[in-house]
Amino acid sequence: MLYHKIVEVREKIKQWKKEGLTVGLVPTMGALHNGHLSLIKKSVEKCDKTVVSVFVNPIQFCPGEDLDKYPRTLDADEKLCNDAGVDIVFSPSPVEMYPDAQMLSNDFLTYVIPPFFYTNKLCGKSRVGHFDGVCTVVNKLFNIVQPDFAFFGEKDRQQLIILKKMVKDLNIPVQIIPCPIVREENGLALSSRNKYLSEDDKVNALVLSKILFNIKSCYNEGMKDVKALTETAYSFLNDRHSLEYLEFRDADNLEEKTAADNNTIVFIALKIGNVRLIDNISLV
Ligand code: PAF
Repeated sequence: MLYHKIVEVREKIKQWKKEGLTVGLVPTMGALHNGHLSLIKKSVEKCDKTVVSVFVNPIQFCPGEDLDKYPRTLDADEKLCNDAGVDIVFSPSPVEMYPDAQMLSNDFLTYVIPPFFYTNKLCGKSRVGHFDGVCTVVNKLFNIVQPDFAFFGEKDRQQLIILKKMVKDLNIPVQIIPCPIVREENGLALSSRNKYLSEDDKVNALVLSKILFNIKSCYNEGMKDVKALTETAYSFLNDRHSLEYLEFRDADNLEEKTAADNNTIVFIALKIGNVRLIDNISLV
């Protein structure tokens, strides 16, 4: 069932809650791929009812980013959800989600601001305000859907860590279920933004997973020093890649590591042409 209005979703959720059914939420921005499908399948398996939100959230895009050209494929998304056994696809308009911001300005919007320590690094460094937009919309979706479980991909690991912190700090009654990164056979992590890549770019994009897999195997062979592990990446890079960051951080609080351990996540972001790609790996 496709809903565009908050009131329709609330009505259905009220009915389900009365019947004592559990609800899973999979928040997405659409352009669904097999990575999203893995989250949806988990929710359908675990929960009595599953809601997938499809909303390209304008307030998490920074000026100059790809808000206008972000892929929008609602018909295909709805079909994928129906085939997977989803109960509600919730696809609100920006006016439905942010009436005051649309009519007045973003200054007329209450935001959820995650701690600076979590957002002043990695993607938050170049995407200032991005995680405020993410936390605000996810909080709104939690209030609308009131899910028992919410499913997020480890592909956006900084987002996942920040959302877990938000849920803990604000006592939101939802359990966050992290879902592993889904990769193509060649290692490329699935992402809606892969649609922007030419065939040639896709080959160049393999550098992210190659660097991460190589770091993990060096770590498993006993290399722990972050400086030495970082240096192993350089031989993979060429002038088609513009590296934004390669960092080793704590899996719970994003603190920087000088020596890698089993609670370390290696984060990478780089640009191929105009396309910015991210990936990460856990060293456990
Ligand atoms: O990961 C995403 O697709 C988005 O950041 C999310 C969580 C759906 C919020 O808009």
